[in-house]
Amino acid sequence: MRIVMIGSGYVGLVSGACLADFGHEVICVDKSTEKVEALERGEVPIFEPGLEAIIAHNRASGRLSFSLDLAGPVANADVVFIAVGTPSRRGDGHADLTYVYAAAREIAAAVTGFTVVVTKSTVPVGTGDEIERIFREEFPEKDIAVVSNPEFLREGAAISDFKRPDRIVIGTGDERATELMREVYRPLYLNEAPLYFCERRTSELIKYAANAFLAMKITFINEIADLCEHIGADVQKVAKGIGMDKRIGDKFLHAGPGYGGSCFPKDTLALVKTAQDFGSPMRLIETTVAINDNRKRAMGRKVIAACDGNVRGKKIAVLGLTFKPNTDDMRDAPAITIIQALLDGGADVHVFDPEGMEAAKAVLGPVTYGKNPYEIATGAEAIVVVTEWDEFRALDFRRLKQEMKAPVIVDLRNIYKPEEMEKYGFAHFPIGKRKAKN
Ligand SMILES: NC(=O)c1ccc[n+]([C@@H]2O[C@H](COP(=O)([O-])OP(=O)(O)OC[C@H]3O[C@@H](n4cnc5c(N)ncnc54)[C@H](O)[C@@H]3O)[C@@H](O)[C@H]2O)c1
Repeated sequence: MRIVMIGSGYVGLVSGACLADFGHEVICVDKSTEKVEALERGEVPIFEPGLEAIIAHNRASGRLSFSLDLAGPVANADVVFIAVGTPSRRGDGHADLTYVYAAAREIAAAVTGFTVVVTKSTVPVGTGDEIERIFREEFPEKDIAVVSNPEFLREGAAISDFKRPDRIVIGTGDERATELMREVYRPLYLNEAPLYFCERRTSELIKYAANAFLAMKITFINEIADLCEHIGADVQKVAKGIGMDKRIGDKFLHAGPGYGGSCFPKDTLALVKTAQDFGSPMRLIETTVAINDNRKRAMGRKVIAACDGNVRGKKIAVLGLTFKPNTDDMRDAPAITIIQALLDGGADVHVFDPEGMEAAKAVLGPVTYGKNPYEIATGAEAIVVVTEWDEFRALDFRRLKQEMKAPVIVDLRNIYKPEEMEKYGFAHFPIGKRKAKN
């Protein structure tokens, strides 16, 4: 099949490369000259484990290519995916659909024969209807079916999520489109990945409902963690104890500094706005959003409290900046708010992240970027673990203790065992458990 992917970011690039790997002929289009030129040189503009190899392999086989031009590739395509960004709209928190509608108009102008246009971007309920209206009114002579096919991949595990999905949701009532979408995903279908067909509006809502549910689950365990700190229980053990119940499940029960990233914050907010607009407010999600917003700043206060209530003039070492490990994505990362709280308190903040420092430079205030954990810990009065990169799990704590000015570790991801930290002589401040004595 001839497939065109509009938008070659985290989702478009991974989806395009994986679809080429399935044997389709894929052209990934992007507006960014910088991105397309880098891709054509064989460079991958984002950090996603395994992506570089898949892109290289499929480019070499001639199945995957990149283009700044949209019209040419679209004119020959069977299926065109829209995978452009849908960020929060400034001011009101609704999903900003400017890029989606702009792409849709460009696609419609270029389409020749029957073409399926698929929204892979996360879009609010009714967006497919609106795209269809635009096509009908502005391009009445074109034969296009509009399908919703939300993406559920996780950054950091995107390739395996795309190739081994729990389900593929496809929202359409059009028979020709159904056939083509089956064809697109046939290799997965043969591996028994469930294709789940439903109405388009239902499909659009499934994506928001899934993200809101997961955000709520994280927020739930975060609140349990706070309670644990007051009553002297251990949130990791509580999570394990409830997670063994299959009705609950053990995923997304890791207490931490609050959810961030390119999806949960904007998608929960957009769902709240949609629900309010339709006169059916979702109090649970409104509260989830509010709790999570407050939590990030509260983590800054937790660090300050661990430093005897004052960080003015103190060097604080922050390990990890990206919203989760194995990505370079800094969008809405909790580190941004936590570091701002420390800067507001007068701290001298030094940071290190294995992949996120370039992106961080665009969003962080005046901090110093270090080369490794030991460099930033030298002379520091606290280490704060914000992102649980594997390389932070086995640090040389004897060396760190010697080089730090005060042996304090604020472990916002619970990656260290309190007993061990105590053994090394650290004051360890985990999440949701009694803190070890110094
Ligand atoms: N990042 C994730 O983990 C993830 C997971 C599931 C769903 N999603 C959703 O997928 C969508 C894309 O997210 P992303 O993280 O890949 O965004 P991104 O910002 O990384 O990529 C979007 C790309 O689209 C390009 N673009 C915008 N308008 C264009 C146009 N008219 N023509 C060609 N290119 C255009 C931009 O230059 C950019 O490179 C969003 O709706 C997001 O919510 C993201």
